[in-house]
Order: sequence, then structure tokens, then C-alpha cells
Amino acid sequence: MIEIRPVRADQPPADSLVAAMVAEITRLYGPLEERIAPSATPDELWAPHGTYLVVLTDGTPVAGGGVKALAPHVAEVKRMFVAEPARGRGFARRLLTALEDAARELGHTRLRLDTGPRQPFARALYESAGYRSIPAYNENPAASFWGEKRLDLCPLVLRAEPAKAERLLLVQRAAYAAETELMGVDGLPPLHETLEEVLEAEHQRWLGRFEGPTLVGGLAWEEDGAAGVDLLRLVVAPAAWRRGHATALLGAFDELVGPRSVSVSTGSANAPALALYARRGFRVAAMYPTTLLGELPPEWVLVGTWTLPRQTVTAFDRNFQFYATVPEEVGPLVDHLEEFEDELPPGIQPSINGLAEYRADVLIAERDGPP
Ligand SMILES: CC(C)(COP(=O)(O)OP(=O)(O)OC[C@H]1O[C@@H](n2cnc3c(N)ncnc32)[C@H](O)[C@@H]1OP(=O)(O)O)[C@@H](O)C(=O)NCCC(=O)NCCS
Repeated sequence: MIEIRPVRADQPPADSLVAAMVAEITRLYGPLEERIAPSATPDELWAPHGTYLVVLTDGTPVAGGGVKALAPHVAEVKRMFVAEPARGRGFARRLLTALEDAARELGHTRLRLDTGPRQPFARALYESAGYRSIPAYNENPAASFWGEKRLDLCPLVLRAEPAKAERLLLVQRAAYAAETELMGVDGLPPLHETLEEVLEAEHQRWLGRFEGPTLVGGLAWEEDGAAGVDLLRLVVAPAAWRRGHATALLGAFDELVGPRSVSVSTGSANAPALALYARRGFRVAAMYPTTLLGELPPEWVLVGTWTLPRQTVTAFDRNFQFYATVPEEVGPLVDHLEEFEDELPPGIQPSINGLAEYRADVLIAERDGPP
């Protein structure tokens, strides 16, 4: 069993982990003069602005690391260390995530760190965890990389952070329930998404937005080859609406995707989203009156996009994953649905009881580059 708990850096077992860390740095870079090496005293690595966390497996301490304040709301990761026999088993990443969560709890919104040329694995870990290279912020003679991560707005690797994935699912449900109400429809597929389904959608990349320690919003997108980028989801917990969270997420997204074109679709009755996208430079590219057809099992949604004189039938699964398109005339639609039936997973029988059961508009907006 893995346990992560705060322990003062001058108390066992934290003190031996810190000593082992200092010994390793001395072996790699030679003795550092305390005068010039940045400090990380037990008091700095403790409340009210810092902490030190120990990772234990079945009661044995295997890793430790701390956070100390550098400036208001800015903290630094210090003394990250995994004991030699425990390396390569993912403890460092778990510890880093726990330190980030602890820093958020302490009120920090940015986390910095430095590492040296003889610790290439540390740098790889930090960069993959979202730390971006910044100019030297200290005079650490052993450092060659200085990194910073925003804690209030950062990439989320859902598989590596299941607790955040669960929280994101709650935010998504609440946001889509509110959107559903606005649009006067029921049954947007992502409302019923399970945690497994969120985790399985590996092609989607996520940005998370935090208010203090709480995840309040997320944005997901995927690459669409040469076509650009599809913005797939933008959700903010209704209790945190109108505080600029979606705007902040879209700002970070713009920085990540750069000048590529972006497309997004939403309901034409979703006034908040429309106002927001218009502000961010999106223009309406197409508007499809859509007809949800018949009585499909609840986990399937079938959308007929009315592009006369041809009609396209598009199916999405519960994740809103694109499933199939059958372009044809309106008349023989039902025949095509029978063909389509062969492609449905076993046990799912579509039945079509009429075309105009239900209407909602889907609006596709596009943007060629950042506003
Ligand atoms: C759309 C959504 C993401 C906006 O989140 P948010 O954090 O409240 O948005 P922001 O605070 O950044 O608002 C930015 C702008 O959007 C517009 N906006 C947001 N909510 C609005 C509302 N209820 N009515 C009208 N305009 C609204 C405004 O122009 C707002 O700027 P302002 O507050 O300065 O007037 C959120 O309402 C949501 O999660 N909705 C459900 C899911 C959804 O519809 N997602 C988009 C579908 S693709």
C-alpha cells in the first residue's frame, strides 16, 4: 500500500531522505557551499507556506520532497528524492503530483524547480509534467534547467491522476446538465459518460482549471491532422460560472495550439458558449438543424444532419465519438439505417419510429488562428 504523508524535514523518516538527497547531489556536483546553494530549511519546508511529503510503501519510506515559498503564491519544489532501489516505479511522478496538490492547498498558484545536467531523468520528468523552461530564478551553481508550472491552469494527465479524473467527471456532468437545460434537450451523450470512458479517450488532451485546490473546469481537444484542432469539451462547474475560468482555459489553449485553425460545435441555444466563442474570435461556419431519430437505446445518439438535397446520418456513441456517416437522399434513410445496424455493437438494436421526434441545432464554429 502506498501512503503519502507530511513529515517535518528534520523528523524521521524525512530527515534520512533529505540527508540521502544532499549526499547524492554532493556526489554528482561536488560539495555545494551553503552560502550559494539555495536553502531549504525544515522551517521553510513546513506550514504555513511549505511542506515536506514522505512516500511510504507498506510502511517503508521510499521517496520524499518538499515545497517552500519563494514569493506570494509562488513556491518551489525542493529536495525531490527517490531511494535508489525504488527508482523507475513511478514514485517521483506521484510525489510531484502530491506536492502540486499540497502547494495548491497552501495557496500557491505557481510552482518552480531547478535541476542540473547530471540529472537528465529529473528534467524529463519535470518537462513531461508540464514544467516549462524559464530564465534562471536563482543562482544555483548546480542547476542547468529552471522550470515553472501554473498550478491554477495546467495540463491534466487523467490516467496518472485518477482523483482529478473523477472530479473532472463531476464537473462535466454538472456543466452538461446545465447546458442541456439551456438547450431544452435531454440526453447529451457526455452526461452519461463513465470514468473508464473518460480515461479511455487517450487521444484527447486536457487542460484543468483550479480555484485554490479545487478543480473547477476543464478543456479537451484533439489534433485533427492537417485540418487543425478540434475543441471537444469546455466545462466549468456551474457554481464557478462567470468568473473567467472558461476564458482562462481558452487563453491557455490558444498558447498551446498556436496559429492552427480550431473548430468547435455547440447548440445554437447555448448563449453563454456562443458569447464566449464569439469573443475568442470564432465565427459561425455552419448551422445544422438536426433531428434525433427514433428510440435508440439510451447509450446511443443518432443525429441526422440535414444538408439538403443530401442527408447525412451521423452516429455518435456516448463519448460523442464519431461513429459513422451515411450520405443519402432523405427517402431511403431507413434502409441505410438497417445497413448501419450491422455496424452497431452486439446487443444494440436501433429502431426508427419517425424522423421528427426531436430537434436541436448544432452549430459549428471555426477560427483560423488565435484572436
Ligand atoms: C460556457 C461555459 C464553459 C462558460 O464558462 P465560464 O467560466 O462561466 O465563462 P467565463 O466566466 O470565462 O465567461 C466569459 C464570457 O462568456 C460569456 N458568458 C458566460 N456565461 C454567460 C451567460 N450565462 N450568459 C451570457 N454570456 C455568458 C460572457 O461573454 C462572459 O464574459 P463576461 O462574464 O465578462 O460577460 C460554462 O457556462 C459551461 O460550462 N457551460 C456548460 C458546458 C458548455 O456549454 N460548454 C461549451 C459547449 S462546447
